[in-house]
Amino acid sequence: MNAAIRPGRDTDAAGFIDLVRACWGEYPSIVFDLDGEVPELRALAAYYAARGGALWAADDAAGRLVGMIAVRPAEAGEPGGSWEICRLYTDRAHRGGGLGARLLATAEAHAAAAGASRLVLWSDTRFERAHRFYEKHSYLREGGLRPLNDLSNSLEYGYAKTWRGVAVLDAAAAASAAIRLGCLLEECVAGGAAVAFLPPLGRAAAQAFWRRAATAVAQGRRMLLAAWEQGLLAGTVSLDLDMAPDQAHRAELQSLLVDPGFRRRGLGRALLALAEQEAAAAGRSLLVLQARAGDASAALFRSAGWTEAGRIPGGTRAADGTPADTLVFYRTLRI
Ligand SMILES: CC(C)(COP(=O)(O)OP(=O)(O)OC[C@H]1O[C@@H](n2cnc3c(N)ncnc32)[C@H](O)[C@@H]1OP(=O)(O)O)[C@@H](O)C(=O)NCCC(=O)NCCS
Repeated sequence: MNAAIRPGRDTDAAGFIDLVRACWGEYPSIVFDLDGEVPELRALAAYYAARGGALWAADDAAGRLVGMIAVRPAEAGEPGGSWEICRLYTDRAHRGGGLGARLLATAEAHAAAAGASRLVLWSDTRFERAHRFYEKHSYLREGGLRPLNDLSNSLEYGYAKTWRGVAVLDAAAAASAAIRLGCLLEECVAGGAAVAFLPPLGRAAAQAFWRRAATAVAQGRRMLLAAWEQGLLAGTVSLDLDMAPDQAHRAELQSLLVDPGFRRRGLGRALLALAEQEAAAAGRSLLVLQARAGDASAALFRSAGWTEAGRIPGGTRAADGTPADTLVFYRTLRI
């Protein structure tokens, strides 16, 4: 079942055509018109080479083409450094075994080596399984719907991710981040992070937390930030903006999380710096937060210039019931 990935060739045309036809055929409302709409499938390697891109195919043990992907510098209109992931298709019988993830990693590594700082892709609104796949791989919804004006009445969602950096998420991006952020939260809670939950935190509960967060973003009550490292959504932080009327100058920093495999690389500090900048831009002159005494986060806040205002003895409890002190930090911002 472990299909082998190799560069795609023009001579693979029959295999590419069969694969795309079969994948589109899973949707009764999608029309496959080879010569009318996708003639480039007849010489796809040349098509991507002419656009500065690359193409791969995956063969099963019998030499049958069962997967494909392409990547190319994005067309004008996208920010500089953007590359577009295209034509990710896997044979139905080879799904669920990691082939799609291996193809995506191959294309992303090529783009990153060529200097891509951002990856984008378009996915038909009907390809719901693909949306979950892309969201799991740290892509977030961006922009409005793109009509293809084709026989299938295709409407596509845009997805994008930064290769390395931090960004503020709008409501659409926040909603599509729930899958990846759910994994991140679950992992951090399992590792003993003091972020409101106790282990074991199930995947559904973790995703529900982020769906509520996305709702709050849409309502303007919360700001949600994300950090990517090597294309992985590896960190997040939130600002609760929903303060009492006499505290409207404040925001509370919450849910600062960095993937355990990506710590001590500056992601936490970068998230904190952008959160402070965005809070000031939103007119908040005072930030507050609580952290568990002795945690890495307390060291981070101190080193980032936050002031420790006090300690609440036994303010929080670990999963085994052990009490720990909570530290209260604040930071004033120039607005
Ligand atoms: C706290 C956390 C977000 C830090 O993320 P991070 O990406 O590793 O942090 P950074 O790499 O930006 O660290 C910046 C600075 O913070 C301090 N710091 C971070 N982790 C530290 C640790 N384990 N021990 C001591 N200092 C630490 C250091 O001063 C560090 O600078 P340095 O690496 O140059 O020495 C991460 O450990 C985490 O997700 N913990 C679990 C969740 C949690 O507790 N969240 C806080 C809720 S309030």
